[in-house]
Amino acid sequence: MNELKVFSGTAHPELSRAVTSYLGIPLGKCEVFDFSNGNTFARIMENVRSRDVFVIQPFCNPVNHNIMEFLIMLDAFKRSSAGRITAVVPYYAYGRTDKKDQPRVPITARLLADLLSVAGANRLLTVDLHAAQIQGFFNIPADELTALNLLGGYFKKKNLDNPVIVATDIGITKRARDLAAILNAPLAIMEKRRVGNADRTETLNVIGDVKGKTAITVDDEIDTGGSLMSTVNTLVGCGAREVYSCCTHPVFSGPCLERINKSPVKEVVVTNTIPLTDQPHEKVTVLSIASLLGEAIHRIHTGKSVGALFEQQS
Ligand code: R5P
Repeated sequence: MNELKVFSGTAHPELSRAVTSYLGIPLGKCEVFDFSNGNTFARIMENVRSRDVFVIQPFCNPVNHNIMEFLIMLDAFKRSSAGRITAVVPYYAYGRTDKKDQPRVPITARLLADLLSVAGANRLLTVDLHAAQIQGFFNIPADELTALNLLGGYFKKKNLDNPVIVATDIGITKRARDLAAILNAPLAIMEKRRVGNADRTETLNVIGDVKGKTAITVDDEIDTGGSLMSTVNTLVGCGAREVYSCCTHPVFSGPCLERINKSPVKEVVVTNTIPLTDQPHEKVTVLSIASLLGEAIHRIHTGKSVGALFEQQS
């Protein structure tokens, strides 16, 4: 494969720089901006003809703008005759809209997959999709990395007393079980129900023993923090001694950080797939995903196994 080039959208340049620093290459030059009429413009400022191009953009807030900007960038790379274009999407938004679970609703996660391909992506590299099956929405190769080993490694070093891993809902149980295996800890599962289409959840029940234990909750993302709050309160009510929490994607929308700050949760451990807002976040620890992304990019570029990367980590 021809020379490796890594470019960044405007959503999270800090992460892109950390990735290129891991790879030991400069970040590719491009200009991306919005005209006063709101139209987005992108221009690649160096030759990418036949190059192996990776473009990094998490679909964080403002979600729709960041997606559109990314599509426009992909189109620019396609029209600049890039040899292969990999869409590096550390956070894939709309993952929760992945099925028709009520009448007359869209499957936006699929729509987005189609848009990426049409815009010019030849491959996808992403981290902890809301549901692994979303990989199947792509007709191009999709590599999904996981931050579980990173999060697990952090908690391993903390050596917490009598830990129990808590899946915040049934959907995350498999990943929670994997984290429990990394930490050699038992598993508990929260029974959660979403109320209507608004950001409201209700925790119904804890399956498993949490009394007197240090609970570590795990989820793919924390959005408004509603699920986390009801989980933490239920765990405390069930006699958990302390509650820690972790997730891959700190969406942290609306009142989330304020909720975390006021809640009994001791620490919330996340990764930098999404940049954090300026709001105070004393209880939040951010682990960098940059070397994992960088290593995966190196492996894709050189034709090495990405799966072997997980085997080495676990
Ligand atoms: C949903 O199933 C996800 O795994 C998370 O639990 C959800 O996105 C969290 O949302 P919120 O923080 O708004 O409750």
